[in-house]
Amino acid sequence: MSTFTRRHFLGSMGALGAAGSVPGVLAATPGVSDTMAEEITGMETEAAGFANPLRLPGSSGLYGVLPASEFREVHVVRSTIEVLPGRRTPILAYAVESGGKTFLNPALLARRGDEMRVRLINDIDQPTVIHWHGLSVDSRNDGNGLNVVPPGGRMDYAFALRDRASMYWYHPHAHGYIPQQAYHGLASLLFVEDDEEAALRKELDLALGDSEIPLVLQDREFDAQGRLRYAPTAAQSFGGWVGDRLLVNLTERPFIQAGRRIVRFRILNGCNARSYRLAFVQGGRRLGFFLAGTDGGLLAQPLRIDQTFISPGQRLDVLVDLREADPGRPVTLASLAFDPMHAEGGHDMGHTSPATPAMAGMDHSQHGTAPAAASSAPMAMEGDARALMRIDVKPSAKYERRIPTVLSSLPAATASQNPPRRMQLGHNGQGNWTINGGVFDPKIAALSVRRGARETWLIENAERSMPHPMHLHGFPFRVIERLGSPALVRGLAGARGLLPQDQGVVDTVQVWPGESVRIAVDFAHPHAGDQDYVFHCHTLEHAEAGMMLRYTVKT
Ligand code: C2O
Ligand code: CU
Ligand code: CU
Repeated sequence: MSTFTRRHFLGSMGALGAAGSVPGVLAATPGVSDTMAEEITGMETEAAGFANPLRLPGSSGLYGVLPASEFREVHVVRSTIEVLPGRRTPILAYAVESGGKTFLNPALLARRGDEMRVRLINDIDQPTVIHWHGLSVDSRNDGNGLNVVPPGGRMDYAFALRDRASMYWYHPHAHGYIPQQAYHGLASLLFVEDDEEAALRKELDLALGDSEIPLVLQDREFDAQGRLRYAPTAAQSFGGWVGDRLLVNLTERPFIQAGRRIVRFRILNGCNARSYRLAFVQGGRRLGFFLAGTDGGLLAQPLRIDQTFISPGQRLDVLVDLREADPGRPVTLASLAFDPMHAEGGHDMGHTSPATPAMAGMDHSQHGTAPAAASSAPMAMEGDARALMRIDVKPSAKYERRIPTVLSSLPAATASQNPPRRMQLGHNGQGNWTINGGVFDPKIAALSVRRGARETWLIENAERSMPHPMHLHGFPFRVIERLGSPALVRGLAGARGLLPQDQGVVDTVQVWPGESVRIAVDFAHPHAGDQDYVFHCHTLEHAEAGMMLRYTVKT
């Protein structure tokens, strides 16, 4: 058997191993319709012009890699960086001094079991707090916004990293300031490693920043001076702010060079409100790749797929075997066209395009009247087919590694037989999003659960609504079933309506209009006393507009 066919055989085995639970995945072959081929070719042409080297995590500066044990203080500061070539963009950032070097938004490294000890010092003129997204910590260290750090104030974090190895992230969580502060730059990554994770990296010979590449997807809008523009109208404060430029690691129109080998991408959707339909494309078609992990770490087995959605707050761990690509030309990471399903205005506006904004009732005239920004890229509405990054494939040193058929010891998800707790997502017609009819009140715990309870939650989204990426603090969970999914989701789903992403441990689940998603949560924890957390939509404007609730885990 040649390497090529053996690899394909193993690829099929990976998918076959999970075929019982995700049969739909096998059907998703790279074959595509003519319109899709045209759309893909258009994105490849777009990506051919990308000329900015992707910002990669280095040894200092923006996204510099820093072991969490090597610093004790993080300052929230104002700074500037160059995003659009030749312009300084003012940002907010997490600044750390360590070993004589300065880091902005450091990519933190830690091991499962480590103690995190960090003092947050707030040097800006607004309250803020760091939330460690995805980690299971006690409510004080969670930074859930029930306590915040005033300007000039400080807060000491101290907790044990108990979670599975994965790429987590940290961002602000002071209610009233979350969308603005995150949009202006406060967000970065936290890599947690364990033995299974280390084994995979060794097996595939991965090196962070070279063959293992974090990708922070964000959309932003700039004014003519290169400053970030965040000025939502009332309609955008309700529907969500979508920037017209698609950045990866705060790089616009980026490219990277990668060897002809297996490359791992660890992807965060760090947008306030935009979802992506990700695919790797080349020569007018989608390339197959492997989903290796989700928010909460590695899947049991790699899943062969050729596209996936990613919504705000979510992470994907993806393995792309560039030996499968045509050596003569680049590969493009793209977001395929999709209907973003913004039907909150009471009528579905259908598929979006720059000419027909899909956000019902939303004022997009800002795009027409804003001063021309400093780059020539066309604006991108949510759901538009757009290139995100070009990958130039260069010859690599001899590389004969293969993706293991087993990635982790993750057990299959099981749900308790108890009747589910229902979480109904809606809005009140007055500009507020609601959960079970209620608007967020930080002073009131809307519900309580028993410590150690294994609960099933049924998250139900209205038909006339928007997609809501629902995020639970404190406890990672499993997705058990999807009912009522719209056609674009159903087409990617397998048994019990589940998407490939639903096979993993997650902390955020996208709930599409009309869907009912059943999740299983284990509320066991080792902390002393009652614990308070929040459950909210990770479309940051939706959370600010009320789609958040406080809950208590009672001992
Ligand atoms: Cu990533 Cu409550 O947040
Ligand atoms: Cu979180
Ligand atoms: Cu939402």
